[in-house]
Amino acid sequence: MDVSVFSPAKLNLFLAVTGRRADGFHDLVSVVAPLSFGDELVAKARERRTEDGEQFHLTCDDPAVPVDGSNLVLKAAQAFVAATGWPGGADFSLTKRIPLGAGLGGGSSNAVAALRALNQLSGGALAGAKLVEIAAALGSDCPLFLYDAPVVMRGRGERIATLPAAAGARLRGRRVLLFKPSFGISTPWAYDRMAAEAPAHYRPAAEAEAALAAWLGGNAPGEELLANNMEGVAFAKFIALPLLLTKLTRDFGVAVRLSGSGSACFALLRDDSATAPLIAAIRAAWGPRCFVQEARLV
Ligand code: C5P
Repeated sequence: MDVSVFSPAKLNLFLAVTGRRADGFHDLVSVVAPLSFGDELVAKARERRTEDGEQFHLTCDDPAVPVDGSNLVLKAAQAFVAATGWPGGADFSLTKRIPLGAGLGGGSSNAVAALRALNQLSGGALAGAKLVEIAAALGSDCPLFLYDAPVVMRGRGERIATLPAAAGARLRGRRVLLFKPSFGISTPWAYDRMAAEAPAHYRPAAEAEAALAAWLGGNAPGEELLANNMEGVAFAKFIALPLLLTKLTRDFGVAVRLSGSGSACFALLRDDSATAPLIAAIRAAWGPRCFVQEARLV
């Protein structure tokens, strides 16, 4: 039996990192949406291999992706077995489209796709709350991928709230252009820089919550929600990011942001806006082969 699971990328439309916790992680308040663009994970059920006892195996079409036990797909599979005692085995095949080191949540999304695939193969061994708990243990950005809709994420990412319907409607289906320079940014590096320069970059939690509540309760478009206080540390080191984002806003009037800890950026597009001039400007600045992808918020 084969199960194929779409593994979407995500965008942080609103991201306020508010401070460092005793466990070393950061508290944040974020509005995150999955995208119509992402990876594909196929899980093929089989018996545990008799020759070496291997229960799970992973292959990926992108040689840059590690396929050993460090991959979150295999970590998720092990966590699934630990929680359910499932005796089966599976061969995973990952088609990678989400760039690495982009702040688009690719690895976290793959982990949740693996949990979903195994849940299907096992006939639904895991239910809602337990799935969220296992996802949270795998990575801060994992739980959000269980919701298939824009959500508010708090804590280090483990506390998820769905958006009021009217607020969600102002985001769902919005068109975005993703673009990433040839370099990536390490998420632990970005958080460490914030902590090293604290409190300069942290946004007070009460202020972030007030800004979010004002947008959620009003009727302003998605453009007015956009915020990301991780941009400070990323822009200080990687000057190519603010140079291009400033130019795009000046020349095209589009709302642009860094996604999460980067290095991918995005522009929130109107449905009728032409993307060709925007893409030409991005490629002129970051090279003809840099990653550019149009998508929609789910
Ligand atoms: O949870 P995840 O494995 O994605 O986090 C990667 C790293 O990013 C953590 O080890 C930590 O350094 C940093 N991080 C953080 N606070 C968060 C999320 C991530 O400090 N809320």
